[in-house]
Formats: sequence, C-alpha cells, structure tokens
Amino acid sequence: MSIITGCWAREVLDSRGIPTVEVEIELNSGIIGRAIVPSGSSKGTHEVLELRDGDESRYNGKGVLKAVENVNSVIAPEILELDARDQAGLDQILIELDGTKDKSKLGANAILGVSAATVRAASIFLGLPLYQYIGGIGAKVMPIPHVNVINGGAHAPNRLDLQEFTLVPAGAKSFREAIRMSSEIFHALKKYLISKGHITSVGDEGGFAPNIASTEEAFQALITGIELARYIPGDDVYVGLDAAISDLHVDGIYNLPGENKKFDTDSIIEFYSDLLHKYPIISIEDPLAEDDWNGWVKINKELGDKVQIVGDDIFVTDIVRIQKGITLGVSNAALIKLNQIGTVSETLDAIELAQRAAWGTVISHRSGETEDDFIADLAVSTNTGQIKTGSVQRSERIVKYNRLFRIEEQLEGISVFPKAKDVFPHLKFKNT
Ligand code: PGA
Ligand code: ZN
Repeated sequence: MSIITGCWAREVLDSRGIPTVEVEIELNSGIIGRAIVPSGSSKGTHEVLELRDGDESRYNGKGVLKAVENVNSVIAPEILELDARDQAGLDQILIELDGTKDKSKLGANAILGVSAATVRAASIFLGLPLYQYIGGIGAKVMPIPHVNVINGGAHAPNRLDLQEFTLVPAGAKSFREAIRMSSEIFHALKKYLISKGHITSVGDEGGFAPNIASTEEAFQALITGIELARYIPGDDVYVGLDAAISDLHVDGIYNLPGENKKFDTDSIIEFYSDLLHKYPIISIEDPLAEDDWNGWVKINKELGDKVQIVGDDIFVTDIVRIQKGITLGVSNAALIKLNQIGTVSETLDAIELAQRAAWGTVISHRSGETEDDFIADLAVSTNTGQIKTGSVQRSERIVKYNRLFRIEEQLEGISVFPKAKDVFPHLKFKNT
C-alpha cells in the first residue's frame, strides 16, 4: 500500500520569484506526498549542483525544466514499484542513477525533490507527523531559532558586507515564547531604524536591509532593539552572525568593501574576537572562507570556547568534509541544508556525524524558500535544538515557525525547549 505508483515534477517559483522544482510522489493507496526544493544565492562552491536550464529566453536562464524532465523521464521509471518507506534504498538508487560526485547529471534539485516528497508520502501513509516519521518517539527537542533581522551581503543591496545579523532568544522558556520575543524585538527595531532615518525594506530572508556599512552599527541596532523591547541582551536574547565570507575572500585577503577594510586571516580573527568582547554573540557562522582550513583551525582554537563557530560553506552538509573538520578541529558546529547534499538520507547522516562529535547542528533554510515547511519537522526529528529560518515576517519564513508552533502544541508535556547551556555547552553563561 505504500508502493510508489507515480512521480512527477513541475516548475514553480521560490520567494525571490526564481523557478524551482516541486515534486509529487503518489502511492498506490492514492496518497500524494509533495516537496518543493529551496535555493541559495550565497552558495558554497562545494555544494552539489542545482541544475538550471541556462536558456536566456526564459527566466533569465534560471528555468528548471531540465531538472523537471529528469524527474519525469529518468528518475520516475526507476522508482515506480518501490516501497516509499525504504528511504535509504530510494536515496541510494537516486545517487547511483546520477552517478556523479556533485549530482550534476540529474541535478540535486531534481534528486532532493524526489527524496523529500517520498518522505512526506510515507509519513502520510503511516499517519504520522513528519517529525515523528523521521525521528520516532525520541523526536522532542524544539529548536532555539536564529532569527535573521538584519540582512546584508548577497541577500540585500545595501553596503553591509556581512550577510546575517540574528537574534538568538536562548533565554526563552518555550519555542512560542522565543518567537514572540523575536517578533517584539523585530518591531522595536523597525521603529528604531525609522527614527534614525533608515529605510525598512527587507532583504531576501525578510530581515531589514538598512543602508549601513558597519558591522558594529548592525550589532548596536540589534542590541538597541532588544532593549527597546525590554529584554536583556546576553541573558534573554543573544545575537549571532553569519558572515558568509567566502564570497569576500580573494587571493588570501578578506575584503570588506562597504566597511573599507581588508584583513588577512589573523587580523579577521582579531576582528571577531573584538566583536565578542563588545556584544553578546552566541554564534558565528562562516567567519572564514570555505577553503581556509588552517584559518578555521586557528579561529576554533582561539574562540571556540567562547562562541559557537558554525561551518556552512566549508562543510556543505557533506560527511567527508564534516569528518575532515572534526579530525582537524576546525569548528564546534555545522549548518545543515538539505539541498547542499541532495538527499534526505545523506542529510541525516551529516547530522548524526556532527552530533556524535558533540557538535552543535543548525538546521537551515535557504535565501530562496517556499511554502514548504520540511525543515521545521527535520529540526524536531533530529533534536538538533537549533534552526535558522529567517526573519519573523514573510510567509516563506513564517510557515516554518507556524509549523513549529503546531508541533510544540502536539508534543505538549513531551517536548523540551532546551536551555542555552545545553545547546551551547562550551560557552560560558552568566546565569547558568
Ligand atoms: P543562501 O544563504 O541560502 O543564500 O546560500 C544562507 C546561508 O549562507 O546560510
Ligand atoms: Zn551561511
């Protein structure tokens, strides 16, 4: 009854108005599982390939009809008659059918669409919420959100060099409270920005994109917002940064043009260290470039006991790169994005590997998102305790939060909203 009888794809749009792949998997019971693939704009060079048509006459070359055709004509015939509950078997078939290291033959967007839609179909068939199908009865930890309220870098046309300035409401007592606090701060921040004469238009992930250039000014604005909403920075609410700095690393130099500063690896580590002294920063993502492994070893030695250091572009949710990171000691956390690696099974392997090394794991959205809320369930199912899914506005971000509200309600009496010291065990907290 959970035998796959249909598999098809279509081109739909993401939150940026750019095409992406939607896949539906039909079972012989008539159940249909659906998934829409997200898409990033500050991609790591080691990510698997997102197949785009390159036909400039449609969507500026960004159409995904080739990926859609690969689902319909190449993948579908190979997976019909499979049991949708055999996720590992299905993902293995997809990997072998593609046959390339970077999933460039069929496109990781085609492959992930099929992989994730199959998980959905199987969970519906079994009558289980997605988080429970993936995580079983052990799925119970609600994630502390990293709420991106100021956007820069590739996500906003302002002068801010670094990409994401986040609120981390780690002092909340529940997920619901964490989002309420974040929303109150977001609106306080809006008033503050207006009072300073800034525009309050938003970037790709729904955070404000004021035309400021300085990293410090962005952090100061966050702290002001937290205080205006009557919360205590570094107690109720911490702040975080995704520098996403790979794009700014040229010939060994970190170049911050908005701020008019250039750094080598040592001096940029000092720059972060200085920020840590001034602001209650709990997490820094991609502080160094994706291939600056020696720099990462150094920053982890110097700052890894004071802040969560998250690898995104450096690891790309790939167990080979994460294992290298664990062996070398380059960070203490990994960002997890399904479409960096291309199947649900490989994503779960990456999470498990990082967790076994006692690393933090942060389930993440992409800048191009949709109404698909898969990652909300994924975060609870794997008990990662952390999620990064954008600002507290714009529906493609909010659907994940709303889904987590429902999950927290369903798991009443069972779910846990973690304490900051449990999710960030290596950090020193004032009030533990
Ligand atoms: P992206 O950015 O989805 O545009 O790649 C997200 C991130 O860097 O974490
Ligand atoms: Zn990132």
